[in-house]
Amino acid sequence: MKHIPLGALSVPNIALGLMRISEMEDAAIRDLVGAARDSGIDFFDHADIYGTALHASERRFAEAMRFSPAERDEITIQTKAGIIPGVGYDFSYDHLVSAVEESLRALNTDRIDVLLLHRPDALMEPDEVARAFDRLYDDGKVRAFGVSNHTPRQMELLGRWIRRPIVANQMQLSVTHAPMIAQGIAANTLTDQATDRDGGVLDYCRLEGVAVQAWSPMGGPGGPFIGDPNRPELNAVLDRLAADYDVTAEAIATAWITRHPANIQVVLGTTRPDRVRASAAGSALPLTRPEWYEIFRAAGHVVP
Ligand SMILES: NC(=O)c1ccc[n+]([C@@H]2O[C@H](COP(=O)([O-])OP(=O)(O)OC[C@H]3O[C@@H](n4cnc5c(N)ncnc54)[C@H](OP(=O)(O)O)[C@@H]3O)[C@@H](O)[C@H]2O)c1
Repeated sequence: MKHIPLGALSVPNIALGLMRISEMEDAAIRDLVGAARDSGIDFFDHADIYGTALHASERRFAEAMRFSPAERDEITIQTKAGIIPGVGYDFSYDHLVSAVEESLRALNTDRIDVLLLHRPDALMEPDEVARAFDRLYDDGKVRAFGVSNHTPRQMELLGRWIRRPIVANQMQLSVTHAPMIAQGIAANTLTDQATDRDGGVLDYCRLEGVAVQAWSPMGGPGGPFIGDPNRPELNAVLDRLAADYDVTAEAIATAWITRHPANIQVVLGTTRPDRVRASAAGSALPLTRPEWYEIFRAAGHVVP
């Protein structure tokens, strides 16, 4: 498993997201997490809102895994705060501090390794976020901070106030949902693909040393693309390359992201151990330039 820098940490370039586990039995959660650990994935992505109730997935993870202190030290736990389901977003001091305290209880741990602000809050007061981060850091409750779904300018605004670096920005990215990559390729053309939807976030993160994390790596418009009969061209290319490299289509779809030189961390959302193992084979798979661009074209993007 290839490792990448994320702030001061060295982390696997594939993480396991736990958005879909709150209804799973303990044994199934242990199988899923075990498959990740066996594949070299020791980075786990949560959010306070994942599951059927607030903190439900975090709680199920802790209940099923029952980590000893030594086992807890072996893994990296990332969670997110800032969304109020059905209401909007809340980056206020009180909300961020209380959300993290509840996450710590649900996860049955004394610290969050990485905390992300889940989606930009239009009413954000950056000095309040800074105060919340200081308090959480000084109390030893959060070790590093990042964002999710943020533009470069939103990150800069926050960065003017907070005293610790933004270590990660988690964004939606797969071969079928790739505006952060596709836009730059089509720059200065009169195509929809040339539309700037994120302020050049990928280049910004590379320039600033912020790790990009890819959520929904197997999803996109129309849902999961592997095996989708509406995407015959893409699946034909994925299947052919999978046979060439003696891996599965999941590994090729993962490698399309990990092959990018930005050192992107893929956040898997599958609930199936076999798909975790299959994707892990894409961690360091060296797709050639022609292969990478062929997959990109087959997903419907333009190479002018
Ligand atoms: N920051 C954010 O705003 C944000 C938003 C969404 C998610 N996330 C994070 O990102 C993680 C991943 O997101 P995601 O669950 O949407 O990603 P994903 O890995 O793209 O999975 C999406 C769905 O695709 C299915 N799938 C995966 N491989 C497949 C295959 N080979 N064939 C058919 N279906 C397949 C999965 O079902 P199976 O379980 O049946 O495999 C799952 O329901 C989440 O767990 C969460 O941690 C973050």
